[in-house]
Amino acid sequence: MYDTVIENIGQLILPADGPIKGKAMNELEVKENMAIAIKGEEIAWIGTHEESKKLKTTTRVDALEKTVSPGLVDPHTHLVFGGSREGELALKQAGVPYLEILKQGGGILSTVKATREESEETLFLKARKNLEKIASYGVTTIEAKSGYGLERESELKQLHVVKRLNDEGALDIVSTFLGPHAIPPEYKGNADAFLDTMIRLLPEISEQQLADFTDIFCETGVFTIEQSRRFMKASQELGFQTKIHADEIDPLGGTELAVEMDSVSADHLVAASREGITGLAKGRTIPVLLPGTTFYLGKERYADARGMMDAGAAVALATDFNPGSCVTYNLQMIMSLAALKMRMTPEEIWNSVTVNAAHAIGKGDEAGRLKVGWKADIVLWDVPNYQYIAYHYAANHAQMVWKNGTKI
Ligand code: NIG
Ligand code: FE
Repeated sequence: MYDTVIENIGQLILPADGPIKGKAMNELEVKENMAIAIKGEEIAWIGTHEESKKLKTTTRVDALEKTVSPGLVDPHTHLVFGGSREGELALKQAGVPYLEILKQGGGILSTVKATREESEETLFLKARKNLEKIASYGVTTIEAKSGYGLERESELKQLHVVKRLNDEGALDIVSTFLGPHAIPPEYKGNADAFLDTMIRLLPEISEQQLADFTDIFCETGVFTIEQSRRFMKASQELGFQTKIHADEIDPLGGTELAVEMDSVSADHLVAASREGITGLAKGRTIPVLLPGTTFYLGKERYADARGMMDAGAAVALATDFNPGSCVTYNLQMIMSLAALKMRMTPEEIWNSVTVNAAHAIGKGDEAGRLKVGWKADIVLWDVPNYQYIAYHYAANHAQMVWKNGTKI
């Protein structure tokens, strides 16, 4: 006896085992007239619609002329923050660059001020609302970063919120400590001393199991390559896997550093060098591309997804949801931007938001695919085929979302 059978599926999207690299990213198994059965928290059966007629089940869901996929994975979000930054829109319109706003004490630092001032409870309720919205777009697993505290108490407050949300179990959340996200006013001009304070926090975060990964913003006016390497080494010595905000605006060589340090991912990479891109293909570091941020910052140049895939890398896509550089919950919108601005094919895009995204957060053996025995993270899309979502942009095409077998 099954709990739910999704039957009559027009197109069932079945990403292969990953990480899927290079040319293989343009391959995607899509089967027609299929069915999938859920029992408890798990995918219990996958077969043809014809075969599914004999299954005994409590509920049947008709997916005629619709599409079913694994729950999407968003491998880069800044989920927990106080306040908002709509006031910066006018500055942006006046042409003030992102890093200039930060230099003047705004941008990330304005969110730091708001986050420090808010209680854990307020942040928790706000982040839970963000999480619900993200899930409504068909996302069942996400990564969430700290980085708006920049001092012990507020960073731990953000990490506790992520832990509480993950414990609640609505979605799986992978936690990342992004203490070195900016240099707070009290350490202005003294990045190394600030970085030391963040490194000294690592043992406590490790003991309390508050994060799986660490991350650092390697950028002009923020942290240098040397500082990033120092932070990554300290993180790895304590057993954390590392991530890096790399080569977003200036080509500092963060992509090469990520490969050198065997980071699980390198994120942004708009300005990545040729050598960096070639390195990605050889190593296990997954480039996580964030075209929503490039779009929101009003830039012409997008990350070279095609170059990375041609070189043989395994590309993933994410929203970068945050209150400053990419204010959207909608991973489907990112799929459209990937098609329109980075010329990725529908097959490449699906692999980037499922299996490869899961690998970018160390969840490759439990998320991003539809497999019997895996937890039932499934989306029913009100679209006739797998090409449709990227094509019909900025809408929410998710009709039903199951997390661990439960409809959310
Ligand atoms: O990924 N680039 C650095 N950090 C975030 C933006 C955070 C913010 O502006 O609040 C990013 O774009
Ligand atoms: Fe980010």
